[in-house]
Amino acid sequence: MKRILVTGASGQVGSDLVVTLRERYGSENVLASDIREPEGAVGRGGPFEIVDCTDHGVMEQAVVRFKADTIFHLAAILSAVGEADPHRAYEVNLGGLENTLDVARVRECAVFIPSSIAAFGPSTPPDPTPQVTIQRPTTIYGVTKVAGELLADYFHLRFGVDTRGVRYPGLISWVTEPGGGTTDYAVEIFYEAIRKGRYTCFLKPDAQLDMMYMPDAIKASIEVMEADPVRLINRNAFNIAAMQFTPEKLADAIKKHIPDFTIDYDVDPLRQGIADSWPKRLDDTAAREEWDWEPDYDLDAMVEDMLVNLRKKLA
Ligand code: NAD
Ligand code: SER
Repeated sequence: MKRILVTGASGQVGSDLVVTLRERYGSENVLASDIREPEGAVGRGGPFEIVDCTDHGVMEQAVVRFKADTIFHLAAILSAVGEADPHRAYEVNLGGLENTLDVARVRECAVFIPSSIAAFGPSTPPDPTPQVTIQRPTTIYGVTKVAGELLADYFHLRFGVDTRGVRYPGLISWVTEPGGGTTDYAVEIFYEAIRKGRYTCFLKPDAQLDMMYMPDAIKASIEVMEADPVRLINRNAFNIAAMQFTPEKLADAIKKHIPDFTIDYDVDPLRQGIADSWPKRLDDTAAREEWDWEPDYDLDAMVEDMLVNLRKKLA
C-alpha cells in the first residue's frame, strides 16, 4: 500500500488530486500538506499538516513521520504571481523541488513532478510542440519548470530516484480557483458567466493555448506514477493534451448553454505576452505510446460539466 505526501495540497490541483488519491489508496494513507490551510474536502477527508517545502528539515520530518514512500510535489508559484516576485518563485519552485528530491533520495520515495506548457518559450515550435524541442522560456516560472525537469532527470539518472512527471496544459476546474496563472481566465469566465452573464477577458480573443479539464489532469498524474517503468523512455515531463481553444471559442461553447452570455476584452500586456510565448498545442504522442495516455474530456464535455458543477457550488 502506498503512503503518499502531497505538497501544495491546498491549491487548484491538490484540491482535486488529494480527494482522488484518498479514494484510491485510503484516506489514512494520504497526507495533504501546504503552507496554508485547505478549504473543503482536503481538510475534512484525511490528515493535513503545514509543511513548507523550502525547509529541507521540515520536509524530511514530514516524510519520516508519515512513513511516506511517494511524494506528489505540487507546491509552486505560478506564472503571473512569479513575475511579481521572481525571487520567491525561484526559492519555492526550484529550492522546494531540490529539497523534495533530496529527501526522496535519502528516504527512498518516488516523486511526481508537474511541469507545464510554461517550460516552452517563443522559439519553441508552437503547433504542435514536440515532446523534445527547444526550451527557452521567458518567464521565471518557465525557467524554474525547465530546470525542474532537468533536476528530476538528474536525480533519476544519478541516484535512481523514481521521478516521473507531466507537462500540464492550462487547467480548468470548479473545486478551487487557480493560483495566479496566465490560463486563469478559462476558470474565471465560468464564475462570471453564471454570476453576471458577462466576462471581461485579460487575453485577446484569438489567444490559443493548450488546455485540460482537471479530471483528465488527475488521471494523467496517477497513471504516469502507476505506469510500467520498463515502457518509460521519457519518464519526466511528458507532454499531455486534451483540447485547444481561444477565449472566443470558449465563450462560444459557453453560449450554447447561456445564450445571453457576452465577452469583452481588456488585454493585460503581461499575461498576453506570456500566452504568446506558450504552445498552442502539445504533441502528446510519447505519453500515448509509453503509458497509454488518453483524455476523456473535449471542449464541449468540459464546458457542460463545469457549468453543472459550478452552478451547484454557487447555488
Ligand atoms: P496553486 O497556486 O493553485 O497551488 C500551489 C500551492 O502551493 C498553494 O496552495 C500554495 O499555498 C502552495 N505553496 C506555495 N509555496 C509553498 C511552500 N513554500 N511550501 C508548501 N506549499 C507552498 O497551483 P496549482 O495550479 O495547484 O499547481 C500545482 C502544480 O501544477 C504546480 O507545480 C504548477 O506549476 C503545476 N501546473 C499547474 C497548472 C494549472 O493550470 N493550474 C498548469 C501547469 C502546471
Ligand atoms: N496555468 C499555469 C499558469 O498559467 C501554467 O502552468 O501559470
